[in-house]
Amino acid sequence: MSEIRDALIEAARDAANRAYAPYSGFHVGAALLLRNGDVVTGANVENASYGLTLCAETAAVAKIANEGWIGELVAVAIVGGRPEGEALVGGEPVHPCGRCRQILNEAAEQSNTDIDVHCASGDGRAMASYKLSELLPAAFGPKDLGFVDK
Ligand code: THU
Repeated sequence: MSEIRDALIEAARDAANRAYAPYSGFHVGAALLLRNGDVVTGANVENASYGLTLCAETAAVAKIANEGWIGELVAVAIVGGRPEGEALVGGEPVHPCGRCRQILNEAAEQSNTDIDVHCASGDGRAMASYKLSELLPAAFGPKDLGFVDK
């Protein structure tokens, strides 16, 4: 179990290298684990109109949705920090923002899974793991609209 978690965090760290974050300088990577073991990653994409920024988790969920895999999500890892050379610096685990919790919930409900959310620091030393239901209790989602694929 922790091998899977560690591999997912490593994939998120790698994805953070591909962030487009010229304004904040804060690079975030997200790695989504699918039921079949595949991993799909995303990184934040900023915009000169700051509020239009896409978070790493949102970018990654868009990728799986576009591939038809939104109902296959079982876990996500998120890593964030400031790049210094090859390394990512930052001592605190990065937790998904409120909007990303909701976006992850869409995929989690379609997957019928209370997904694992692994949050890691840029320097890799700190980590915190949750179920999505802990981070977004009493969520509103596709089930409330009668739209959960079985
Ligand atoms: N960011 C993410 O990618 N995911 C989150 O859950 C929180 C914030 C990004 C957005 C922005 O590019 C940078 O972190 C600083 O807010």
